[in-house]
Amino acid sequence: MPGRIPQDFINDLIDRSDIVEVISSRIQIKKAGREYKACCPFHGEKTASFTVSPEKGFYHCFGCGAHGTVVGFLMEHDRLEFVEAIEELAALNGVDVPREEGKAPGTPTTPLFDLLEKAANLYCEQLRDNPAAIEYLKSRGLDGNTTNHFRIGFAPAGWDFLLKRFGSDEAGRDRLLKTGLVLRNEEGRVYDRFRDRIMFPIRDSRGRTVGFGGRVMDNTEPKYLNSPETPVFHKGRELYGLFEARRANRNLDRLLVVEGYMDVVALARHGITTAVATLGTATTPDHLQRLFRASNEIVFCFDGDRAGSEAAWRALQVTLPELREGRQVRFLFLADGQDPDSMVNEIGPEAFLRLVEDSQPLSDYLLEHLKAETDLASIDGQARLAELARPLVNRIPEGVYRELLLERLAAEVGLSAERLARLLSDPGAAPAERPQTRIRASQRVSYGRPGPVRQAITLALHQPATASVIRVPEGFDELDQPGLQLLRDLLATAEDNPDIKPARLAEQLSEHPDGGSHLTKLLTQELPLDEESDWAAQLQDTLDSILHDDLERRFAELTDKANHGLTDAEKAEFRELQAQIAGPRSKAS
Ligand code: CTP
Ligand code: MN
Repeated sequence: MPGRIPQDFINDLIDRSDIVEVISSRIQIKKAGREYKACCPFHGEKTASFTVSPEKGFYHCFGCGAHGTVVGFLMEHDRLEFVEAIEELAALNGVDVPREEGKAPGTPTTPLFDLLEKAANLYCEQLRDNPAAIEYLKSRGLDGNTTNHFRIGFAPAGWDFLLKRFGSDEAGRDRLLKTGLVLRNEEGRVYDRFRDRIMFPIRDSRGRTVGFGGRVMDNTEPKYLNSPETPVFHKGRELYGLFEARRANRNLDRLLVVEGYMDVVALARHGITTAVATLGTATTPDHLQRLFRASNEIVFCFDGDRAGSEAAWRALQVTLPELREGRQVRFLFLADGQDPDSMVNEIGPEAFLRLVEDSQPLSDYLLEHLKAETDLASIDGQARLAELARPLVNRIPEGVYRELLLERLAAEVGLSAERLARLLSDPGAAPAERPQTRIRASQRVSYGRPGPVRQAITLALHQPATASVIRVPEGFDELDQPGLQLLRDLLATAEDNPDIKPARLAEQLSEHPDGGSHLTKLLTQELPLDEESDWAAQLQDTLDSILHDDLERRFAELTDKANHGLTDAEKAEFRELQAQIAGPRSKAS
C-alpha cells in the first residue's frame, strides 16, 4: 500500500484543474455570464439549476443542494473514492500521483493486506474439509454459490492454526498481531483470535480483505467476534457486502442496509444482492457518504423491537445532512423477533421486496416520531413540535428537500410554512417584534439569520486576500462564540495563502470542528455588495462589531448583576468595559 498523497499536490491539482472542462466532458453545460449552467446530473430536472463557477472552482445545484469542488464532482458523478478521484484528475492533467515515502503513518499496509488475503484463502480451504461447518451453513439455508460469492470460510478449533503458518518468526508474529488475527495475553502468550468459527471476510471497496467476522456454530458466547480496529480496518467506515453488491449489480438503484452478516448473505441467497450491513456499530456519517456514493436510494431495515427503533432514529439523524432532492431514504420495520434473514426465508424474496417497496419514507417516519412526542391539539404542542423539529430540520441542507419537509411539517401543525420557518430559525422571536433592538451576536449565529460571525466567515472565504490587509482587533482572540474559532483559523489560513481559491480554502477547513463542513455551502452565497466594494473595510467593520457586541453583552450582564452586587473583580471589569465601549465604537453599528 503506497504512502499518503501529499496535501500540497492535491491542492495544486485542484487549482490546476479546469472544473468546467472536467464537468463539460461528462454532462452538457452552457455558458451563462461568468458561470455555466446545466441540468443537474444528481437529480432529475428539466430546468437548469446546476451552476459551475470557474472562478470559485466550484459547482452548486440550487435544486438539490449538491455542491463541491472538481474532486467532489468526480467522486459523486463517477462514483469514485477520494483517492480514485485524485488519480483520475492527475491522469487528466498528465501527471503522476506522488506518494509520501516513509511518512505513511504507522505500518506499511501491503504486508497486512497480503496476510489477510492468505488467511481468507486458508479459511475457505478449511471449510471444504469440515463437514460440520458445511452442514451448519446448509442448515441456515445457504448454498455453495452464495458461500463462494462471499468467500465464507471456516477457522478450525485450536490456538495456533494461523500462528503455525505465519508466525514462525518475530516479524511474522508482529504482522499477525497488526492484522488482529492473533492476540497476545497478559503473560505474553500469542494465540489465534478466531477459533472454531464460520468466517465472513470483510472486503473494502477494492475487494481487498481488511478484516473478518466470525460466528460460532452453537450457542456459545460471544456469538460473533469481529476483527479489531487495525491500520487497514475501520468499523465506522466499512460496510459488509458493499463490494459484493457492486460486483453483482451494474447499477445499484437501491441499497438495503441491514444489521447482520447473515442478513446480507441470506438475502443474496434469495437473489436480493443489494444488501449491506454495518459491522455491529451504529450507522456513521462515513457510512452514509459511502452509501450515497453507491446509490441514490437507501432503505434501512431494522428489527421491530425497541433496540431496532432506537437504531433507526439514530440512523435518521445521521442521514439528515446527506438529504437532497433525487435521494431517497426509507425505513422498513420488521415484526418483533424477525430479521431480514428469518423474514426472507419465511416469506420469500418477492414478498420481502414488496415490504421494501412499502417501507416508510424518511419524512413520514420523522413526522410520525415527532407527533408521537407531542400533543398537537394544544398550542403548547405546536411550539413543542417546532422545538423538537428545529435541530433536525436544520441538519438538512438548504434546498428543495428541506422546503418540502417544512411545508409538510407546517401542514401537520397547522401553521403557515413561513411562520413555521420563523419559529424554527429563532425561538420566540417573531420578526416584527423588535426591529430596532440589537440582536446579540451570540444569538445571531442561529440558522437562517446571517449574523456577523457568519458574515465575516463568508467575506473571508470569498475574498481570501482581505485577510492579509485587515487588523484583528485586540481582544478578539479571547472571544468565545460558535464559529469564531473557525473564523480565526480561516483568517490565518487565508493570510498564509492570499491567492488561494475560495473552494480550496473551504476544502482545507472542511473538517474544522467548529462548523467547517458548512463552508462549502457558504461558497454558493453571493456577497451582499458589488464588485467595487471595499471588502477589506467590510471585513474589518464586521470583526470590530463582533468584538463590540461581545463587550456590550458582557456589560449588560454586569449591569444586570450590579443590582445584586458585584465582586471587586467584576467592578473593575465593569469600569474597563465602560471605557472600551465608549472608545473605538462609532463606525460599527
Ligand atoms: N454482532 C456482533 N457481536 C455480537 C452480536 C452481534 O458483532 N456478539 C453484530 C454482527 O455484525 C451481527 C449483527 O451484530 O451480524 C447482528 O446481530 P444479531 O441480530 O444478534 O445476529 P444475526 O445477524 O441475527 O445473527 P444470526 O442470525 O447468525 O444469529
Ligand atoms: Mn439472525
